[in-house]
Amino acid sequence: MEINFIPLQIHGDERGSLIALEESNNIPFAIKRVYYIFNTGKNIRRGLHAHKNLKQIAIAICGSCDFLLDNGSERVEIKLDDPTKGLLIDSCIWREMYNFSEDCILMVLANAIYEEADYIRDYNTFLNEVKNV
Ligand code: TYD
Repeated sequence: MEINFIPLQIHGDERGSLIALEESNNIPFAIKRVYYIFNTGKNIRRGLHAHKNLKQIAIAICGSCDFLLDNGSERVEIKLDDPTKGLLIDSCIWREMYNFSEDCILMVLANAIYEEADYIRDYNTFLNEVKNV
C-alpha cells in the first residue's frame, strides 16, 4: 500500500520556522475545511471510519500520534511526528488514530465540508465497498 507524505517547505530564518499551505501548490486539492484535534486523552482511539469521497491531509503540527491506514487488503501503521510532513489520506481508506502525545495537535485539511453521509463507520461495510470498486 502506497503511503503518500507531502513534504512541506519550511521558510525558516533566525526568528524560527514558518510553513504555508496553499491550495494547488503544496496541497493537491481545493481546501474546503480545516479542523484540528487536540487534548486527546491517553489510550484514546479516534477515527475508526473511512470516507466515500473525501480526501484529507493530516499534519501533526505539534507532538505526535500514530495512524493505522487500511485499504481493505493491506494495513499500514505510521507515526506522524513532523510538522513538515503531510500525510495524504485518500477516499476509501479506513483510518484509526491513537497513541497521541499529550501535546499533540493534529491538523487536518479536507477537500469538502463536513458531510455525515460521506462516512463509512462500519468496518464490514467498508470492506464490502472497497471490494465493489
Ligand atoms: P468524529 O468524526 O467522531 O471525529 P474522529 O473521526 O476524528 O474521531 O467527530 C467528532 C465530532 O465533531 C462529531 O460530533 C462530528 C463533529 N465534526 C464536525 O462538526 N465537523 C468536522 O469537520 C468533523 C471532522 C467533526
